[in-house]
This record gives sequence, C-alpha cells and structure tokens, in this order.
Amino acid sequence: MKVTAIANSNIALVKYWGKRNEELNLPFNNSISFTMDDQLQTVTTVEFDEKLKKDKVILDGVEANERESARAVKFLDVIRKMAKIKLNAIVVSKNSFPKSAGLASSASGFAALAAAASKAAGLNLTPRELSMLARIGSGSACRSVFGGAVEWRAGKKRDGSDSYAFQLSPPEDWRDLRNVIAIVSEDEKKVSSMEGMKRVKNSALFSCRLKTINERLRVIRNAIKTHNFAEMANAIMQESNNLHAVMLDSWPPVSYLSDVSLEIIKKVIELNESFAEPVAAYTFDAGPNAHIYTTLKHCNEIVKILKDINGVKRIIVCGIGEGIRFSDKHLF
Ligand code: PMV
Repeated sequence: MKVTAIANSNIALVKYWGKRNEELNLPFNNSISFTMDDQLQTVTTVEFDEKLKKDKVILDGVEANERESARAVKFLDVIRKMAKIKLNAIVVSKNSFPKSAGLASSASGFAALAAAASKAAGLNLTPRELSMLARIGSGSACRSVFGGAVEWRAGKKRDGSDSYAFQLSPPEDWRDLRNVIAIVSEDEKKVSSMEGMKRVKNSALFSCRLKTINERLRVIRNAIKTHNFAEMANAIMQESNNLHAVMLDSWPPVSYLSDVSLEIIKKVIELNESFAEPVAAYTFDAGPNAHIYTTLKHCNEIVKILKDINGVKRIIVCGIGEGIRFSDKHLF
C-alpha cells in the first residue's frame, strides 16, 4: 500500500539543543515552536514492497546520498521492528525549500516520513505515538506532527516514553502572526546540528542555560496564550542569543551566524527601538538564516528593511500552519 503524508517545518522560539540520549534524541529541556504554513513543506510517499532487495530513497528527484540514505534506512528499521515486518521500502520525498539551510527540513522530513512509513507498514499510531516516532528520526520533527503552537516535553524517562510534543494552541488561534524568513545562505551547513549538540558538553554556559530556560518557557507559553507579542518577542530574542552564546562557548566552537545575520539582528533592534515596544523578534537555528517573528501589521516594513541588507538572497513570509496530513496524490 502506498501512503503519502505531508508535514510542515517548525521554527522554535525556545530551542532544543543538547541531547541526554543520542540514540533516542532525548533533550535536556522542553522546547516551543510554531509550525509553519505550506511554503515550508515536505511531501513523502512510502511503499513497502517484497520485490525490493533494499530500501530506495529519492530526495527532491535524486537518489539520496550515502549519509541521508543510511539515516532513512535506520529510521525505517525502527518502523519495521515496531510493525514486525521485514519488507524493504521505496521512499520518495519532495521539499518545497532547500535542505540543511537552517529551514528545519529534517523536522518536516522526518515528520512526513514517520507518518507515511508507519501507516504504510500497517501501524495505526496516535498523534502522541507518531510524535515519539518522528523524534527518533530527528528531534525537532516531533513538533511538526502538530499545527499551531507546539511544545515538546523533554520527559525524564530513559526509554523516551514521556518525551513527545503536544499542541499549545491551534493554527487559527493567532492568525496575524508571521515569520519573515531572510535566506542568507542556501549552502549545507558545515557543522550538522547532530555534531553541534555533542559539543555542548564542553560548554560552561550550557548548565546556566538549563537553569534559566524554564522561566523563559513559562513566559513564552503565557505570551502565546494571551497573544502578548511584546513579551514573547523579548523572550525569543534573548533565547536565540543565549543559544548562540552556548554554541560559541562549546569546544570545538560552533558558530552559525554570519556577518549578514549580525546585521539583521542590528536592524531588528533598531526597528524595535523606534517603537514603544518590540514589534519584531529575530531567532536563528543552526544556520545563518534569520526568522523574524512579527505581526501582519509590521510585515511590509520588515520585508523592506531586509531587502536593503546586502547578502539577503530571498525573503519568505510565512504564516502559521497545520500538522501532519495524508494525501492520495502519491509522488510515484
Ligand atoms: O533538526 P534537529 O532535530 O537536528 O534539531 C535542530 C534543533 C534546532 O533547529 C537548532 C532548534 C529547534 O528546536 O528546532
């Protein structure tokens, strides 16, 4: 049976960085994100077939490279074990945006793969089970199972059975919220997030981050609930700065921000200073591309500022989107 699933990427306000278990992708801290609209999307079709001698993975029209393929096969093995099947699979996946450029393609990628492959293998998972499965593929993918504002509960158990995402509020709850994305580079990052996260164990600032992150989570959760943009904006920017400080404090050091990213930070701060309260909030993942959360009212102004910055290659204005869906439009 062919199954096609659609998942959108998510961009965190409080980030996941550092793993207490690398095999199961168990984090040290909770994280909160918004799921993006259909512009940042992965569509994946999966079929298990007795005629296949091995798994075949096609990403954006080309056969997956060794690293990508090994990661997908390892994930399919988890699903085969759960479903008690031995069949190989064909996986065809299409992204609406470039892979590995800090636009969280692994989030939408593994969420779509978890949904399509588990269903194709005959499993009928609840959204929570699907979130835990997607987490094993890529941590941030567990949040893309749900739309709107989403929290990933870090959990405490060693087997990961209490580490899953849940919806804080549906996509329609904050209709005028936007993420203005400034694409600064579409190159694959030199240090993967997997590698970057391993290096936090050498950072003295990391333990300090963990001591203060629960308060930040509380502020952001409350700001989402009350649509208090100004309160949310300050917490988002402080969180991004804290994360990138920890990265730089890791050893060997990790640094994802470019000169263009720093220029964007400067411009957002200047814009906010020209208003009585913040109207925009920058946040950066493991890459130089900027995600600027704002409201519809200030969107055009921000786009205009970004267009004037040398080195900004492309701008995408994203709204808040849905969680996992299935489709009967298969990719093969
Ligand atoms: O996509 P992953 O699971 O390798 O993790 C990436 C983590 C960040 O994007 C940097 C932060 C986050 O919470 O999404």
